[in-house]
Amino acid sequence: MTVASLREVLPVEQAAYEFPWTRGNFIDSLHAGYDAQLLMRDDGTLIGYFVAMAGVDEMHLLNLTVTPSFQRQGHALRLLDALCDLARSERGAHQLWLEVRVSNLRARAVYDRYGFRSVGLRRGYYPAAAGRREDAIVMSLGL
Ligand SMILES: CC(C)(COP(=O)(O)OP(=O)(O)OC[C@H]1O[C@@H](n2cnc3c(N)ncnc32)[C@H](O)[C@@H]1OP(=O)(O)O)[C@@H](O)C(=O)NCCC(=O)NCCS
Repeated sequence: MTVASLREVLPVEQAAYEFPWTRGNFIDSLHAGYDAQLLMRDDGTLIGYFVAMAGVDEMHLLNLTVTPSFQRQGHALRLLDALCDLARSERGAHQLWLEVRVSNLRARAVYDRYGFRSVGLRRGYYPAAAGRREDAIVMSLGL
């Protein structure tokens, strides 16, 4: 993912989330050197992407998104495979962490199926409708 590819990424982000990342969130991540990759079709259509932050011997998944019209075709699993390969081979990570909204049952199903374990709860971590906050489940996967 580059700043130029945000032209394709931002509409997908806005279609996929009620509280999407802003252009500034993506630019900050790219400038910070986080790992950000796109999954594209041969014709250049964007299928999905991830953004992850490397730590000393662990990695934190910050964003995993599949274009709505391409969902439920196994692409999230392919993106997670690519992230785990990169985390292990290029970043020397032994653990992958993420947060997910309690209400995001689709994403929780993907992470459960992939082998992540729920290890904690962050109270009021995410913004929610009507100015409320929503808890995050912290999940972790040994690499
Ligand atoms: C969550 C998300 C990334 C999943 O992407 P996806 O490409 O549709 O997921 P996959 O097709 O790889 O699903 C893999 C498995 O996860 C489970 N799963 C995925 N979507 C599901 C759903 N809607 N309901 C129940 N289980 C689901 C299933 O076990 C599925 O395997 P199956 O289709 O063989 O049954 C996608 O729905 C998305 O981008 N959502 C909006 C953004 C988001 O919430 N991102 C995660 C933030 S933490």
